[in-house]
Amino acid sequence: MSARRPGHPDRYAVIGHPVAHSLSPDIHAMFAKQTGQHLEYVKLPAAIDGFVETASEFFASGGSGLNVTVPFKQEAAAWVDALDRAAHEAGAVNTVTNESGRTKGFNTDGVGLVRDLTVNHAIAIADARVLIVGAGGAAQGVVRPLLALGPRALTVANRTVSKAAALLASLGSAGQGVELSACAPEAAGGGFDVVINATSAGLDGQGRVVPGNSVAGALCYDMVYRTGPGSRTAFCEWALLAGAQDAFDGLGMLVEQAAEAFLIWRGVRPQTAPVIDALRRAASPASAAEDG
Ligand code: ATR
Repeated sequence: MSARRPGHPDRYAVIGHPVAHSLSPDIHAMFAKQTGQHLEYVKLPAAIDGFVETASEFFASGGSGLNVTVPFKQEAAAWVDALDRAAHEAGAVNTVTNESGRTKGFNTDGVGLVRDLTVNHAIAIADARVLIVGAGGAAQGVVRPLLALGPRALTVANRTVSKAAALLASLGSAGQGVELSACAPEAAGGGFDVVINATSAGLDGQGRVVPGNSVAGALCYDMVYRTGPGSRTAFCEWALLAGAQDAFDGLGMLVEQAAEAFLIWRGVRPQTAPVIDALRRAASPASAAEDG
C-alpha cells in the first residue's frame, strides 16, 4: 500500500455527508478489541461535492480502507478502480480497499441485511411473500441478496411507482421464478410474511409508509435504527400498533455490514452479537439514522 506509516496502526475511516452521527468508529473499535487487531478508525467528513478529493487524499496519505455512507455510495462505485460483484450489481459501494494504490469497491449492505434477518432474527425468506417499501439506494442495495434466498413473491411499493418498476426491470434473470410486482404504497395489499421498510420517511418521524393491512401479521424490518433501551423507530412503533407479528430495526444490519467490511479488510470476522447488545444498551438514544 502507498505511503503506509511503519510502526503506526492501519488507518480506516467512514466518509459521508453528514458523518457526525456515525456509529461505525465505535463498532470497528469494538471489533478491533475483540479480535486483537491494531487499527485506527475515524470519521471522515466530506463536502457534498468533495467525495473524490477527500477519498483520494485519504488513500494517498496511506489510508487502508474506507466505509462509504450517504450520499456517496453511488459516486464511490463510479470512482473505484474495480468493483466486486455485489457492488457492481447494486451500483453502490459501502466498503473500499486499497491494494498498492489500487482501490476496489464492495457492497456489504445486502449481506448485512440478510444475516440480520436470517441469522439474528431467524426470519425465513425462502418461499416467503416479501414486501419492500421504497425504491431508492437502500432498496437497490438489498433486493438481489434477498432474491437469492428464494422468496415466493417480491413486491416493491414506492411513492414514485416508476422507480419501483425500474428497480424490478433492472434485475434481469435475478428475479426468475419469483412473482415480482411494483405498485404504489396504498395499493400494496396484504398477506405478506415479511415487510421491509427501505424508505427514508422515518427520518422525518413518519412511520406509516403502507396501509395497516400490509403489515398485519407480518414480520417487519426497518433499515433505519435507534439505539437506547426500549426506543423504537417510527416504522417499528407504527407496525406493531398496526398488528405486525414483530418488528426489528436496522441496528443489527449496521453491525453485520460492518463485520463483513472488517472481514474484507482484516481477514477475520468478528462476533456481532456482543456489539449489537452494547450499542442497544447505549445510555443516550441516538436519533434514527440510515446507516454508517
Ligand atoms: P436511500 O439511499 O435511503 O434509499 P433515496 O435513494 O433518496 O435514499 O430513497 C429514499 C426512498 O424513500 C425513496 O424510495 C423515497 O420515495 P420516492 O422514490 O418516491 O422519492 C422514499 N421516501 C422518502 N420520503 C418518503 C415519505 N415521506 N413517504 C414515502 N416514501 C418516502
